[in-house]
Amino acid sequence: MFVRRIAVVGTGYVGLTTGACLASLGHRVICADIDERRVEELRGGRVAILEPGLAELVTEGLAAGRLDFVVGARNAVPRAEVVFLCVPTPMGEGGAANLAAVESVAAEVSGLLRPNCVVVNKSTVPVGTAARTAALLGRADVAVVSNPEFLREGSAVTDFLNPDRIVVGCDAQDAAERVAALYARLGAPTVLTDAASAEMVKYAANCFLAMKLSYVNAVAELCERLGADVLDVTEGIGYDRRIGQAFLSPGPGWGGSCLPKDTHALLQAAAAADFDFPLLQASLDTNTRQRNRMTDKVRAAVGGSLDGVHIGLLGLTFKAGTDDLRDSPALAVAAALRAEGAVLVAYDPGVRASVPGMTDGVEVADDPVKAAQGAAAIVVLTEWPEFRMLDWGRLAEVVANRVVVDTRNLLDADVLRRVGFEVLGVGRRPQLPPVGR
Ligand code: UDX
Repeated sequence: MFVRRIAVVGTGYVGLTTGACLASLGHRVICADIDERRVEELRGGRVAILEPGLAELVTEGLAAGRLDFVVGARNAVPRAEVVFLCVPTPMGEGGAANLAAVESVAAEVSGLLRPNCVVVNKSTVPVGTAARTAALLGRADVAVVSNPEFLREGSAVTDFLNPDRIVVGCDAQDAAERVAALYARLGAPTVLTDAASAEMVKYAANCFLAMKLSYVNAVAELCERLGADVLDVTEGIGYDRRIGQAFLSPGPGWGGSCLPKDTHALLQAAAAADFDFPLLQASLDTNTRQRNRMTDKVRAAVGGSLDGVHIGLLGLTFKAGTDDLRDSPALAVAAALRAEGAVLVAYDPGVRASVPGMTDGVEVADDPVKAAQGAAAIVVLTEWPEFRMLDWGRLAEVVANRVVVDTRNLLDADVLRRVGFEVLGVGRRPQLPPVGR
């Protein structure tokens, strides 16, 4: 295998995972960030993000001398044969991706790049960005390659090292092959294509996942109306290999830092190309409906108005295994409950104290019993497996009313019913009345 000198610009979960994993594959990697404190921490082997296995890889890479961290892209790129751009592309005006960070890095490094090196866009960027980056760099000897990431938060390292596929796109075939060779040891199927198609793969994948989830959430609602059980239905369709078992769990709607942003960005790109994409718009609308529907369930559970009513929330993050609150459906449901006057106390294993600007209006407890104390209903919003193992007998003693709205269909309803709880799920067939009530 060729060992390459690599620079990675941006040390968020994508950049840091990319840098640490490429170093673990044997490459020599320098990661750059503009945040001096973060760089200092990383040089000391301290990883602030909750990503299993990442801290170990960083420590290993530092110790082996294959991984280093510097402040500023200009200090990372001069000797690099391959430069990865892993900077944020947040949602900008009207839903389109904001490319300011990509553009500013391109401007910063264009004069410093080693002759004939390759610049790789790993950030999720609109179709055409590789060509635009090449124009910004203004370097005829430097090829710009699109190599989208498919890393789920909370399992980014595993996803990087065991990829379903590697996608590399460039209009110059040799540059694409050089980037694909970086991953050779992983033995994954590799799609070599042009830059625009590689950029499109990322959007098409995330939007498909969003659509799949909205479909399942809509089927769950219909199951409720028709008296079917969505868990049996998804099991029944999931065995069909054309459909697959993954991404079939209904919930309070989908969220996070990627799926909503990418769905909006593709819709925006479609509109700009004068293409009507009702299928994708419907996925977003269904998601809003699903989030709102959870409030209806809580209202029904407490038997009327939520004004002044104490609700205990289990879960705040957008999914389990992360401390990320960005575009969390749990927070959207909390905000809707709050708007109707509910008094909210939440417990989340990944969020032990309030986060200003995110958890406003919700008291964050460090213990599930405190969240449940005096609650007229408990609402499960994130699928943390530990919620299944809670001492539900103890929670039954402290609540005002033994009812749980389980928006993730996570809990073992039999266990809860034994201690007197009524459990209301999503898309489930009507439950038997709780024992002893
Ligand atoms: C996503 C993509 O999966 C990943 O490939 C991409 O590169 C980055 O964006 P991530 O944002 O980490 O990853 O979250 P993901 O695991 O995809 O979950 C997205 C949302 O869907 C979460 O709110 C999650 O709770 C929800 N979800 C997921 C469900 O409601 N049901 C499911 O069955 C799966």
